[in-house]
Formats: sequence, C-alpha cells, structure tokens
Amino acid sequence: MTIVLTGLTMGYADTFNQSIDDPAEFWLDKAGLIDWTTPPSCGSAEDVNGIERWYPDGVLNTCFNAIDRHVLAGRAEQVAIYYDSPVADDKSAITYAQLLEKVAGFAGGLRSLGVEKGDRVVIYMPMIPEAVIAMLACARLGAIHSVVFGGFVASELAARLADAAPKVIVTASCGIEVDRVIEYMPIVDEALAIVEQPPQSVIVFERPQSNYVVKRGRDTDWGDLIKQSEPAACVPVAATDPLYILYTSGTTGKPKGVVRDNGGHAVALTWSMTAVYNMAPGEVFWAASDVGWVVGHSYIAYAPLLAGCTSVLYEGKPVRTPDAGAFWRVVEEYRVKVLFAAPTAFRAVRKEDPEGALFRHYDTGSLDALYLAGERLDPPTYHWLAGLTHLPIIDHWWQTETGWAIASNPRGIERGFPTKAGSATFPSPGFQVQILDEQGSVVPANQQGAVVIKRPLPPGCLPTIWGNHARFENAYMDVYPGYYLTGDGGYFDDDGYLFIMGRTDDVINVAGHRLSTGEMEEIVASHSAVAECAVIGVTDELKGQLPVGFAVLKSGVLLDADEVERELIELVRQRIGPLACFSRALIVNRLPKTRSGKILRATMRKIADGEDYVMPSTIEDPGALADLKELLAGQSL
Ligand code: COA
Ligand code: AMP
Repeated sequence: MTIVLTGLTMGYADTFNQSIDDPAEFWLDKAGLIDWTTPPSCGSAEDVNGIERWYPDGVLNTCFNAIDRHVLAGRAEQVAIYYDSPVADDKSAITYAQLLEKVAGFAGGLRSLGVEKGDRVVIYMPMIPEAVIAMLACARLGAIHSVVFGGFVASELAARLADAAPKVIVTASCGIEVDRVIEYMPIVDEALAIVEQPPQSVIVFERPQSNYVVKRGRDTDWGDLIKQSEPAACVPVAATDPLYILYTSGTTGKPKGVVRDNGGHAVALTWSMTAVYNMAPGEVFWAASDVGWVVGHSYIAYAPLLAGCTSVLYEGKPVRTPDAGAFWRVVEEYRVKVLFAAPTAFRAVRKEDPEGALFRHYDTGSLDALYLAGERLDPPTYHWLAGLTHLPIIDHWWQTETGWAIASNPRGIERGFPTKAGSATFPSPGFQVQILDEQGSVVPANQQGAVVIKRPLPPGCLPTIWGNHARFENAYMDVYPGYYLTGDGGYFDDDGYLFIMGRTDDVINVAGHRLSTGEMEEIVASHSAVAECAVIGVTDELKGQLPVGFAVLKSGVLLDADEVERELIELVRQRIGPLACFSRALIVNRLPKTRSGKILRATMRKIADGEDYVMPSTIEDPGALADLKELLAGQSL
C-alpha cells in the first residue's frame, strides 16, 4: 500500500493558505488518505451545538485503518510495535499480522463482557503492548476508551471512572518505576470502592513482577478472556462518533474529558505523519512518552500505525534505566528515524551526560530529526541538542485538546525552514493562529498576547468535553467569540515565527506532565488547619516547573509549620500522585491580594522566579508582597 499525500506537492505557504481559504475542501481531499466504509461527501458541517464537525456523513473504523488495511495491503510481516522495557528486562517485536490477531482477540473478549459500540472502557495500564492492544480493541468495537495515566492514584482514577462511567476497566497487576514495582490492584480496589457505580468487570493483565493474585469472580484474567472468546470484526462508526476520552487538567479540581472523534482524528494524524514528521510507511517512529498522555495516544498508538509505520513502545526513563544513553541505545537498536520527546527528558540526559559521551557511544545515524513538545523547548536545551547531534531540532507546540501539532516546522511539506531557538516555527495547515490583546484585537508582531485559533479548528481537535458541553464553550469558545482559546501566551516575530511563552491560566507543566494548580489548591484547602492558600508554578531547571504551596493557617491551630507542610505534601501525593512533585508548602501569615480579594498569583510567581515585577495598583496591602519576598529569599524551592 502506498499512502499518497495529495497536497504535499505544494510548498508550506500554498498548503497553509489553501487550508485556511477553503478548509472543507482541503480536508475532504485529505480524507482519501484513509479507508472508509462510506466515504464522506462533504468536509464539514455544524453539529447541534454549532461546532464544526469533520466528515459528517463518513463511516469508518479507526482500528481497521490502523491495522487491517496494512495487513491486507502486504504489511502483515512488517513490525508494527517494538516493545522495549529495560525495567522489566523484556523486548518484543509485534508484526501487523500478530497485532491484528491480538487486537481482534481482545476485542472479542471485551464483547463477551458486554462491551458494544458507544460503551466506555477505562484503561489503567503501564507502558506495555497490552495498553495499545486494549485501545485498538475498543476502537475495533466502536467502544470509547479512556486511558488513565498509571502514575495517578486512586482518587484521580475514581474521578475519571465516575465521569466516564465505563462498563469495564482494563488494568495490569503492576507498573515498574525504574526498580520499584508499583502494585496497581490496591489502587484499583480503592478507586472502585469510591465510585458510586463501578464498572461491571475488571480485566487484569498479570505481570510476573507482581504478587497479585486475580480475584476470580470480580476479575477476569486477560489471557483467559481471550481464550474463551471469538475474535471480533471491525464495527463501522460515524466519523463524528467518539473514539476516546482523555482527561486533562483544567483550572479546577475536576479534570476535563477531552473527546476525540474517529474520522477527523484518523485523517489528521495520518496526514501529520508525512506533513509534520516527514515519515513514510515502513519507517520507525518513536514517541518517548506514555500512553496515558495525548502524545502517547497520538504518536505511540495511533498515528504511526495509521500511517503504516513501526512504533516504539518504551517502558523506561531517559536516565537511570540504566543510564543517560538509554534514548540513543533505543535509536540504534530499532533504527529510529524520528524521536519525539519532552525537553525535560533531554535536560535529564544533559545533566547526566553533559559532554554527550553516551550519545557518541551509539550509532544514531538512522535519525532524521528530533521533535520536542510537552513544554517550551528552552534555548539552552535546544543549543545543547543541536550541537551534540547536528540534527534538525524541531520544537512543536500542541495540546491534549488539539491532538496534533498546532505549530511546527513541517519538514514533510517544505524542508529547509531554519529553526529558531525558543520558537515552534509556523502554524500547521488548518490552524489559523492569532495573538489577541485583552480587548480581542490582533496585536502587532513581537507583542505578546493570548494565543487563539480562529474557528473552525481542523480535524483531530476536540468537539466537546465529555458530558459537559457548557464547560467546553465556557473554557475555550466564549472568551473571544469566533476563536478557540488555547490558554497559552505568546507572540509572532517579524518573520512569522511563533513563540509560545507559557500558560496564562492555572495549568502548570511539571516534567512534561500537565497539572492544575487549582486542583492542588483545592486539596491543600481541604486540610483542617488551612484557612486559605495559593499554589503557583515556579521555574525549575530540570522539570520546567514545580508547584509550591502557600498556606495561611486557621487561628488557634497548634500544629507547627513543618508538621503542616509535611501533611500537605502527603495529602497532595495521596490525592494526585507523586508525579505532582509537590514538595514545598510554606506557611505564611497572609497572601498578597487585590482589594477585591483576588490572590496575586502572577506576581507571586515572578517573585519566586526572581523576576522584576510591578506593584499592582489594586493591591490591598503592599506589605504582604514584601513579606513574601523576604520569606522566599531564604528558601531554596
Ligand atoms: N507510575 C507511578 N509513579 C510514577 C509514574 C508512573 N507511571 N511516573 C512517575 N511516577 C512517580 C515517580 O516514581 C516519582 O516518584 P517519587 O517522587 O516517589 O520518586 C514521581 O512520580 C515524579 O516522577 P518524574 O517527574 O517522572 O520524575 P523522575 O525523577 O522519575 O524523572 C524525568 C524525571 C524528567 C526523567 C521524567 O519526568 C521524564 O522522562 N519526563 C518526560 C515525561 C513525558 O514524556 N511527558 C510526555 C510529554 S511529550
Ligand atoms: P498537554 O495538554 O499536556 O499536551 O499540555 C499542553 C500545554 O503544554 C500547552 O498548552 C503548552 O502550555 C505546553 N506546551 C506543549 N508543547 C509546547 C511547546 N512546544 N512550546 C511551548 N509550550 C508547550
């Protein structure tokens, strides 16, 4: 099978302009990249909520496009997934034919438990092939998966179970963090006990590293289930039917269930593999992320397979498994063409191997480029990588909500755009990015403002929030009518390069993990000794940002500050998980506020980062900022 990308004969400017001038026509043309049960007759139409939906009358199956069609077209013996786990000391290569057998088998197992089109299935698994198999099996049945990152604790899992209301939860007996076995089943048990209406069935993939014994009756063993069931065929679904829900942090404690549809997602991701990453069928792509995050959904599980490539599934860290040469070893072993990772991962590598001795130890000649996302690629890391590898270092910007890059250096469309340190280069075709001031006017080049995308959003982007369309409108569409609000701040320079400078809301990015300081504040405030609090993200050299809490205690509280701090740290660890990296909670007498009572978080952040700040004219008590400055001067955060 050859995937012919219409539209790639043009340069970037023509492609981009066409995508904006006539989006429906542009994307209808790209629909030919995938196989349809019923091909769409039109590119887009508004749904009942007034949201533009892609391929409204198209019918397809995403799993068929990711697996079956490649088998039918002669790629049966090509490796679909390389699994590489330094932590489990395990490796395997799964061909497209084997993947088809495993996915169809597990889909049959799900069906035997009553899972049908439109039912939800929560997948709480570590980075093992069965996680991807479970996702694809849901897609095969037209069921909607919701993967929960394995680092989340019981309360976070429970919140997602309560919102998605799945029929089944699929899990594994354990995950492995470097040399530590994380038993999943106590977490699952606790989450199921919290949820009012727990799923009917629990499927457990048993790993040899765990001592867990499957609770026959409630639990079904993965292998037994497949043995007892018939393989399932693909179920055709509407292009606009949901493929998955992925929860992400918003500004409150309740995570937002980002909905992804089938048709737009399949087309956009297939196109992106060539347009953005310059990949061809048969080549090896590695996104060093986790299936629990959007990067893992899009570029470990779906896009490489939709495009007939080979995907690497790596269960390990960039360092300590066993050393900072881990990434380069994997590149050499599987002849990886494109490696996609978070800047924080390379900062960790640079810290351990600043001179790049381990890089030189491996043959990385297969690499065509490095792509980075998840947070801004800081110029020092950019320069270090460029100097070390002599490869194009591509920063590209995207969000869980969009599912693929809003801005990138699209090497598959036009090569040779120079990169600029700190910039994600140009908007991807389909994304009409603009920078607005507070009044909603477009600002001139070099001036920072709110980064927005003029509607319609291209295929692949979210059409709603699961079960809460009002929240979708409120969070993204209402602030600047006609535009999608990204929540990021940034600017275009004179050459049209886009610079994304950071969030303008309560979302922070800790080691490539998107977290909500609002959620942490709710947890800190729930401590019986705390009267009020603020949590801000401060800059961290390795992890990008780290959360720091500030709490005012209720009068009469007799606990000492250290004790409260310890309890608050433990509380956040228990309710969100260690990945929150919440390790400082400072007890203060008061919080700096405006006269209307708004906590001055942005100013607090500047003080904590040692940046200049202007005393807000609306401040209630300037002494509160002076106190904070004095307190922070004596702290290492
Ligand atoms: N299951 C259980 N616990 C997990 C976990 C998981 N899947 N992932 C992380 N944790 C835990 C860690 O064990 C650690 O716990 P500890 O505080 O008890 O030691 C804590 O969460 C923090 O983890 P992490 O932030 O990953 O720190 P680290 O020091 O182990 O690793 C990096 C630092 C930079 C190497 C690592 O964060 C990394 O590779 N980040 C990239 C993330 C990424 O790919 N994001 C996707 C965007 S593209
Ligand atoms: P997530 O939804 O977890 O992918 O996180 C999305 C957020 O991460 C964005 O809104 C940005 O704040 C940040 N982000 C991701 N990639 C980049 C990038 N290349 N440059 C700057 N910020 C980024």
